[in-house]
Amino acid sequence: MADTQVAIVTGGSRGIGRAVAERLARNGVAVVVNYFGSVEAANEVSTAALEAGGQAMAVRANVTDPAQVTALFDEAHARFGGIDIVVASAGVLRTARIAEASEEDYTEVLDVNVRGTFNTLREAARRVRDNGRIITFSSTTLALNAPGYGIYNATKAAAEGFTRVLAKELGPRGITVNCIAPGPVETDLLMAGKSRADVNRLAALAPANRIGQPADVADAVSLIVSRDGAWINGQVLRVNGGAA
Ligand SMILES: NC(=O)c1ccc[n+]([C@@H]2O[C@H](COP(=O)([O-])OP(=O)(O)OC[C@H]3O[C@@H](n4cnc5c(N)ncnc54)[C@H](OP(=O)(O)O)[C@@H]3O)[C@@H](O)[C@H]2O)c1
Repeated sequence: MADTQVAIVTGGSRGIGRAVAERLARNGVAVVVNYFGSVEAANEVSTAALEAGGQAMAVRANVTDPAQVTALFDEAHARFGGIDIVVASAGVLRTARIAEASEEDYTEVLDVNVRGTFNTLREAARRVRDNGRIITFSSTTLALNAPGYGIYNATKAAAEGFTRVLAKELGPRGITVNCIAPGPVETDLLMAGKSRADVNRLAALAPANRIGQPADVADAVSLIVSRDGAWINGQVLRVNGGAA
């Protein structure tokens, strides 16, 4: 690995991606905070990292557009000289029972979660330096099979599929590719439209009876991307406090 590692975190402006970007910056990694709509939030993350003596920049890119993803990697390379870690956290959730799901539900969720992850992984596969680290995101929802999660779960199955194959493709170069499948985590994605009772029900899935925090997931990312994570490869790791 290079002396100073360089990470690109897609969806680094909010939620889990933000916590990952903040954690990696604290670990001394130079961080490219990707955002799409949340420019202020992304700038907050990079400014805080710079003020703490780290290296960071915020870069706008819609992960559904391959040209913008290429430009994101170009900017990271131009600024920091290479890329060692890619965390593909950008994602969306829309729930609808399959009988009621719309074309828009299907298109948006597939576009961001599958095409966006694919665009990010393809660029990462071409450009991450030897001994690098790539992380995708699935979800514990894939184990729970709750009604309404059909489209979302299909996208997370795709993320797991990409991960296992890419791990085999890049393993000879010492690059690991793993997938994190969080349980319920307190972010905008999870909390939107949920009542207190809904949240309590989700909290009760974990033996500790609480919702996960973005930092819980960032801790797991921190381990996987460290030298200590070198032998963890091609895995789907449920980070959910034992929920499933
Ligand atoms: N929260 C949970 O309970 C949970 C559980 C399991 C898995 N996950 C997975 O974890 C990942 C992060 O979720 P989260 O809860 O942190 O979500 P979140 O708080 O809603 O944040 C989503 C992030 O994705 C970015 N994003 C969305 N569309 C994008 C696009 N087209 N291009 C670039 N960035 C885009 C957003 O950027 P802007 O705001 O800048 O547009 C934002 O930074 C997702 O893959 C999600 O499926 C979450």
